[in-house]
Amino acid sequence: MTTDHLATNPITRRVNEFATRVHRVQERQLYLYLEPVEALRGPRVTIAGRSVLLGASYSYLGLLGHPEIEAAANAAVAQYGTGTHGVRLLAGNTDLHDRLERRIATFIGADTAVVYSSGYVANVAAITTLVGRGDVVVCDKLDHASIIDGCLLSGARLVRVPHNNIAAVDHALAEAPAGAGTLVVADAVFSMDGDVIDLPALVDVCQRRQAWLMVDESHSLGVLGSDGRGIESHFGLRGTIDIKMSSLSKSIPSVGGYIAGRAELSALLKHTSRAFVFSAALPPGSAAACLAAFDLLEREPQRVERLRQNYLSLRSGLRAGGLEVRDDPTAIVPVITGNDDAALTMARRLFDRGVFIPPIVSPAVPPHTSRLRVTVTAAHSAADVDEIIKTVIATWHEVAPVFAHTEIAR
Ligand SMILES: Cc1ncc(COP(=O)(O)O)c(C=O)c1O
Repeated sequence: MTTDHLATNPITRRVNEFATRVHRVQERQLYLYLEPVEALRGPRVTIAGRSVLLGASYSYLGLLGHPEIEAAANAAVAQYGTGTHGVRLLAGNTDLHDRLERRIATFIGADTAVVYSSGYVANVAAITTLVGRGDVVVCDKLDHASIIDGCLLSGARLVRVPHNNIAAVDHALAEAPAGAGTLVVADAVFSMDGDVIDLPALVDVCQRRQAWLMVDESHSLGVLGSDGRGIESHFGLRGTIDIKMSSLSKSIPSVGGYIAGRAELSALLKHTSRAFVFSAALPPGSAAACLAAFDLLEREPQRVERLRQNYLSLRSGLRAGGLEVRDDPTAIVPVITGNDDAALTMARRLFDRGVFIPPIVSPAVPPHTSRLRVTVTAAHSAADVDEIIKTVIATWHEVAPVFAHTEIAR
């Protein structure tokens, strides 16, 4: 392919610069992204024929690979096929999709739910439908990229407030012009840090300022609340969030995302949100997998407790080994290295020792806050958790001194 005519185009420079950055990391044998997983068994994955312990799973309740879920998915493929006849609004809707939406709504305590093909799409769809030019949308600085993208695409005035700073939310709402629609969007559990939004304060502010409140439960569904029903259950504040959203690819081991709330909201989204009207339905196999997973979550709440025991052990074990780890009630435990190279080096050494935790560097996180984001699931045994703790601590104490003169953060 000839690309000479593109040589002076700035896009070419950007593309080439990024490729060089990737290539340099690969040359140093520090590239640990896009590893082709060949098989999974409980908390272990096989990569290049080698079984390693996964310390970076989103399948918090250990439901990925559950036979009941796989049987449900297979049965749905046999009954409905691998796809749908297009978008749901026209010929692509099935009774399975309708049942899934009712199941989600009942489980999380909402009137209705609308399912989209991914969590990313659900956030963009809902936010762009609800607000537009002349409105104000307020987000936490650390909200997920799909929330920020939805806000930017909406055309509303976006106010990004400092992390978990509810006074700043209050201020932003107070400054909103009269007559503007006002929406506040927050992650329940922040995906890179594992901390929890101050829901009681946020609900209070939104109610006082008459703003709609939307909360992304992608990392709290199945994790927060003794029943895994999420952040309202955790704080004992049922029925206080106007719009609840979650990915269906984490505790629920499938693909998709939902927006749940009052019936009128669902009617609007199903008839006007562009990702619903102009994009194909979730495949039946994935919808059936979600349904079976919600059944299991309801039937086996002990999985939530097992997860809790595992993340408590992980947090206290890492802390006992000299790492600075916060005390959040979630499965995401960041080990901040600050420096990109420290994160890349730690991840490589962990992998060589049989523990797979890909490094997270900017732009996924702010510059100088690179990290290993360690997670455990209900599928990890106590011995697995100990193995992760032991290996992370040993690797940290090896790598941290090497980078101590640079910018290792904590
Ligand atoms: C907080 C949060 N919201 C939304 C998403 C997007 O979900 P999905 O992967 O289903 O598109 C993610 C995915 O990582 C997430 O962490």
